[in-house]
Parts: sequence; C-alpha cells; structure tokens
Amino acid sequence: RDIIYYSQLDSTNEEAKRRINAGCKVEEGTVIVAGRQTAGRGRMGRKWESPAGGLWFSVVLSPELAVSELALLSLVFARAVAKSLDTFLPGGCQIKWPNDVYVKGRKLAGILLELSGEMDRAHYLVAGVGINVNVAREDLAGEIRDAATSLYIEAGRKVDINKVLTGVLKSMDDYYNLFRERGFSPIREEFKACCMHLGRKVRVKRGEGYIEGINEDIDFMGNMVINTGKEIIRISTGDVSII
Ligand code: BTN
Repeated sequence: RDIIYYSQLDSTNEEAKRRINAGCKVEEGTVIVAGRQTAGRGRMGRKWESPAGGLWFSVVLSPELAVSELALLSLVFARAVAKSLDTFLPGGCQIKWPNDVYVKGRKLAGILLELSGEMDRAHYLVAGVGINVNVAREDLAGEIRDAATSLYIEAGRKVDINKVLTGVLKSMDDYYNLFRERGFSPIREEFKACCMHLGRKVRVKRGEGYIEGINEDIDFMGNMVINTGKEIIRISTGDVSII
C-alpha cells in the first residue's frame, strides 16, 4: 500500500483531495501522512491543532456504498480507531458520537470524512484521522489544553508513532471489511459498549438551538436517539455534550 509522508502539509485531507481532483490515479487505501499540519481541519468547519508529535493522516477509499451507508462509516472508523488506541491505554478509551475518541473526558482523537470527485468520475472518500500521540500538555494550544489529551499524557511515556499508525490502519481495514461483510450490527454493539454518553443526559447543538434529553440508543442507521421526555428524536449530525 502507498504511504506518502510529508514533514509538513496544510492538511492531509486537502492533499488527498488535490491528488484526486488533479485526476491522478489514487489507489484505494493510499495514505497521506504529515509530521505537522499548518491548516488542519476538524468537523463543522473548526480548525484542528496539529503540532509535531501528533499523528495526522488521511486514507483514500472508493467505497461502493449507498449514501446512507457512508454515514455509518463515520461510526465504523471511530470504533476502529478507539479499538486500536485501547492497546496503548491502561484504562481504554471511549467514543463520543459520531466519531471522537476520548479518555477520561478529554479528547484524544478525531475523524473527518469527506467525499471527493466529480459526478462523472470515481467518487472517493477521504478519511482523515488526527491523534494526539506524543504531545505534552504544555504543547497543546491554550484553547484546547483542558479539553484535550494525548497518548503520552495518558500512558505516561512516549509511544512509537509508527506503531500507532500501523495499528490504526490495520484496525481501520479490519472494521471496513467487517462492515462490508456483516453490516453495521456487530460494530454497533461494540460502539454502544464504549460510547461515553449512552444512557446519560445530553445536550446536542443543532443550528441555532439545541435539544436536551436522555441518549437512549444509537440506532441501526447510526443516528443518536434522544428521549426529551416529550418525544423521541433521531439525530444524524450534531455536537454532543453530557450535562
Ligand atoms: C474533528 O474531531 O473535528 C476531526 C478532526 C480530524 C483531524 C484530522 S488530522 C488529519 C486530517 N487532516 C485534516 O485537516 N483533518 C484530519
């Protein structure tokens, strides 16, 4: 498999999309890795701090899946990344829906899925993964210092970043294949078992407002199911916090 390494990039997702849009033949499974990113991006238009010491990469896929199934890949890859990172953490990690990885209430990793390609050309899915690996607390930017963590902080020692990359890529392949062979059901059970807010009272931002209620389930479509006391609402995207 092609693993293309840059010491610095604006964003590995951008580089993957540049290659796709330039009409380059990008093999399925190609990985773009950067030592640091100068314009790393997160979900919902947020920026993503990407200093040296972290693992910032994108995997290019061309899945033959329906749009409804694509949404599930977000949860599939979250479980894949969490399962792999469990091996470096004494107490394991949790998932915040749809695809953030947390340890003891602090964010360790995030995933950004983007579709690319023209209508008449192949469609590609760019799966961007950001993991704070050997980032010390003082190297975390001020605005995320309290909310974020790293493998180094949690494991109490430096971790071999290549081992993390190899482990996470293997896990993503395994879960991607499991999903294609057996669907979402088996992965859904694992997701729910490590989901940090299942059964808890949550607030989900939606546009200008928000919804509050008990997160009763993650359904078979990957939606978050919230019981507000008055009605049951299924949410396909949003920003969750435990209240
Ligand atoms: C999020 O939690 O909001 C998603 C963060 C995704 C960050 C990764 S780092 C590699 C890839 N390139 C980017 O610009 N973003 C993703």
